[in-house]
Amino acid sequence: MTTLITNIKRLVGVRKTNSPHSDRGLRGKELAELPAIEDAYLIIEDGVIAAYGAMQDLKSDGSRDRDPKSEINAVGQLIVPCWCDSHTHLVFASSREEEFVDKIKGMSYAEIAAKGGGILNSARKLNDASEAQLFTTAWERLEEVSRLGTGAIEIKSGYGLSVEGELKMLRVIKRLKERSNLSIKSTFLGAHAYPWEYKENHKGYIDLIINEMLPVIGKEKLADYIDVFCESGFFSAEEMEMICRAGMTYGLKPKLHVNQLNSIGGIESGIKLDAVSLDHLETLTDEDIKSLSAPATLEMGGRSSMATLLPSAAFFLRMPFPPARKLIDAGCAIALASDYNPGSSPSGNMNLVVSMACIQMNMLPEEAVNAATMNGAYAMELENEVGSIAVGKKANLIFTKPVPSLAYLPYSFGTSLIDRVMIKGEFI
Ligand code: NIG
Ligand code: FE
Repeated sequence: MTTLITNIKRLVGVRKTNSPHSDRGLRGKELAELPAIEDAYLIIEDGVIAAYGAMQDLKSDGSRDRDPKSEINAVGQLIVPCWCDSHTHLVFASSREEEFVDKIKGMSYAEIAAKGGGILNSARKLNDASEAQLFTTAWERLEEVSRLGTGAIEIKSGYGLSVEGELKMLRVIKRLKERSNLSIKSTFLGAHAYPWEYKENHKGYIDLIINEMLPVIGKEKLADYIDVFCESGFFSAEEMEMICRAGMTYGLKPKLHVNQLNSIGGIESGIKLDAVSLDHLETLTDEDIKSLSAPATLEMGGRSSMATLLPSAAFFLRMPFPPARKLIDAGCAIALASDYNPGSSPSGNMNLVVSMACIQMNMLPEEAVNAATMNGAYAMELENEVGSIAVGKKANLIFTKPVPSLAYLPYSFGTSLIDRVMIKGEFI
């Protein structure tokens, strides 16, 4: 099946498949380079990008000879690669708007947690929900975010906090992977919080993760990555290291929650573990920024970790936004993701994330789009499959409504400017 798209006002994010980005991801000044073709065409074959170029070259490169089965006229529209949302907790049993109201009334996070709120509240509800229920609601959320332009997504466990609960979540994610046309990566986050019964017995819970959860996850290939919430009152950097090293023996690479509220050594440990990404980073010391921007050495595996920023979580929790400018200027590679979850970011809308990055974090529209597409793909090790317009990549495309420019997208925050979304060459 061949589809030809003609008269595209601007084809955004055009890159050769293996452009030599410095070690891993677009960093420093590269992040502001978003190559585009004005008045362009694009050819899709069997869900994959087969060719593209300027309209005036359409005949000369023989593209018409491919005999398209369908032709789409995209006059006035921008085409942008679909968002690559590299950090979500999209499987959960129910929303937590009651905590939201408590917070508005002035209750603190600690008071809410003491009332049985927070992650443990979600865990209780998840353990009571059936796998079928969880699948249905997660599927609806996946459809919702794909209509908002997300074409690749990472999804974590972490609301089970029991052997059955964690495995149930990961099996739901596995079914989503099998059923969906989106590219999906799965992350095991058993170390999201200590459950009530292990509050005073951290070793007991870590043993449960290492001896009861990981062997099954490894055997049934239930996850690609391992995550730990490294934070005061949650998991220390040493505990994170121990859990990650155990996960790595099953082939799970670390992809970690660090420095959301405190800087307790998570970045240093994460870099030592050669983490695929280090996420949140609202609270950074100058030393942390230096570590994140240092080029990877060979003993680190020769690659550096993507710094993944989650502006909608900072917004929702009324926290300072992560210092994107400082990170970019120091030469770090940064990605943007939604952190979609019921506690700190009850939205998976990447359009809003891109807007917030521009408005609150001083990122240029080009930088924000790159961070939410190409660098998001790197943060899921999907850079050869999605994240840009390149021959051989999936035709995951956002068709915008007629807009004057790329900058108009983040500028008009909250307005839906997506006309249609195509996943693997098909409109959804
Ligand atoms: O990424 N930081 C930890 N975990 C989630 C929120 C968890 C929750 O409150 O449910 C996050 O923000
Ligand atoms: Fe998170």
